[in-house]
Amino acid sequence: MKVIKNQTDYHKLQSERFLYPQNFVEQSYNNVYKKNTFELGLPKKTFPKRLASRIHTLAIVGIALGDEGKGRLVDNAIETFLENKEITSVAVIRFQGGNNAGHSVEKGKIKLALHLIPSGVLHKKALNIIDRGVVVHPEDLQTEIEYVEEHTGDIKKRLYLSEDAILCTDLERAEEVLNRSKTNSAKGGTGRGIGPSYAHHYDKLGLKLYDLFSDDWEEKLSTYYDWYENLFASFNLKLEEIDVPDYKKTLKTGKSESRTVGNKNTFLTRLKKTRAWIQKKNILINTFTLHKNLYEKENQAVLFEGAQAAGLDAWLGTLPDVTASNTSVFGVRDGTGFWKIDDIERMCGVFKIPYTSSVGSRKMPTHIDIPSDLTQNQNLTNEQKWGIWVRESAHEYGTTTGRPRDITHLDLAMLTYNARMSGVTQLIGTHLDTSLETDQIKVCTHYIDKKGAYLPYQPGIRHLTNAIPQYITLPGWNGIRCRNGKKKNDLPKNAQKFLAFIQEQTGYPIVAVTTGPDRKHIIYF
Ligand code: IMP
Repeated sequence: MKVIKNQTDYHKLQSERFLYPQNFVEQSYNNVYKKNTFELGLPKKTFPKRLASRIHTLAIVGIALGDEGKGRLVDNAIETFLENKEITSVAVIRFQGGNNAGHSVEKGKIKLALHLIPSGVLHKKALNIIDRGVVVHPEDLQTEIEYVEEHTGDIKKRLYLSEDAILCTDLERAEEVLNRSKTNSAKGGTGRGIGPSYAHHYDKLGLKLYDLFSDDWEEKLSTYYDWYENLFASFNLKLEEIDVPDYKKTLKTGKSESRTVGNKNTFLTRLKKTRAWIQKKNILINTFTLHKNLYEKENQAVLFEGAQAAGLDAWLGTLPDVTASNTSVFGVRDGTGFWKIDDIERMCGVFKIPYTSSVGSRKMPTHIDIPSDLTQNQNLTNEQKWGIWVRESAHEYGTTTGRPRDITHLDLAMLTYNARMSGVTQLIGTHLDTSLETDQIKVCTHYIDKKGAYLPYQPGIRHLTNAIPQYITLPGWNGIRCRNGKKKNDLPKNAQKFLAFIQEQTGYPIVAVTTGPDRKHIIYF
């Protein structure tokens, strides 16, 4: 990487890579693969230190298409923070999304699939906060807390819930079903009511958790039900008969289960039960005061845990598979109502190193077309075989649904755009172990149009339909060998070079990589 003398140089370098990636491919390749002149991680001495108003703060967000492995990185970050004797505890804050997210966290023999509860829940010294920018379905939250408690004991004093969080009920979930069946445009949701809940946050029709816990909650929720009943009636549909996801049953059977919304009485009775349960738990708070205390006590680390990713961001993702929230570091402001990005010391964007996985119906230009039925004897291309191998070895199946994820080639044009727009200053790569020494890994560096002219990456299939990815093929490495590594020089040379090429081409330093599923499989550069 070019010697950077000051902050301006650094921003210039990143902007050049963003604006003209096509001009740097040869240079990046030569620097790394021919001249061997590269330095992994933050360039020593010359890297401008980010001046933030609060030390021991870190944001982790996804910069690909989701499922990058953010949950386990949060877990790793908590451990690292706690190794510092000055730090007594870590606050882990979820600031956007809802239980549309899914990630597994592990500690010893305990392995939990979490959706809404922050990833710090397995740590005794972590304080977990579901903040005001999050969509909360109270019954699902109760189910998830009960599930966590079965494995870890009482979550008391380990989990707090903002009373300003956005309330989601079976009504918004039914609305998602309606939108999907009655229009052509409302595709691509997880069915958890996330889109309609955020939509009603903006159109001011929706409710907050404090509405459910107010004295007149029954009246408010009853009126809300009536409104939905009328909406469904206008489509000649009966609200009470609409099927919505049943997470409690799904947890028991391991299959996607559903239940009907039920009549108003059923709807209110379910909520009443959960309301009483949450009240008894004593987790509902005004998070502003908590943030104020956190800000002032510098012996407590603060970690912002992003859900989904830049490629799924409401504004910067690619339709139809976008979620309804701001998935970037900038979402921290709205989602906490307290922190701004100038407060945060380190802002990391997470991506999968040798490939990208994708969920939903959109096909990115770098998509690998894997046949859905693999039992048939078919002539698969090398690319398809590689995609299948990646899917199996990295277990690319949905945490909740078990559905196989799509596999795409690593797209550095998208990654550079997403890193820039997410506000991150450094990258963390996962899945360095998903490679074989014999692999020839195709990496998209930029796009051209049909006439051969450079085409910048922009979110939206409209811009990408005619985009022809330009690939460079880079040699693979022994992925399993990476798992024994403790420091960057332990990694196979080709793995180091691959990472250095990403750094050169995107202009962002890679500060850590994961090399396997366990907590110990991580190397900090
Ligand atoms: P929604 O967030 O439920 O509205 O779903 C919108 C789109 O985002 C769908 O295509 C989902 O598959 C996708 N999505 C939401 N959360 C995740 C995630 O955590 N990983 C991957 N895709 C997600």
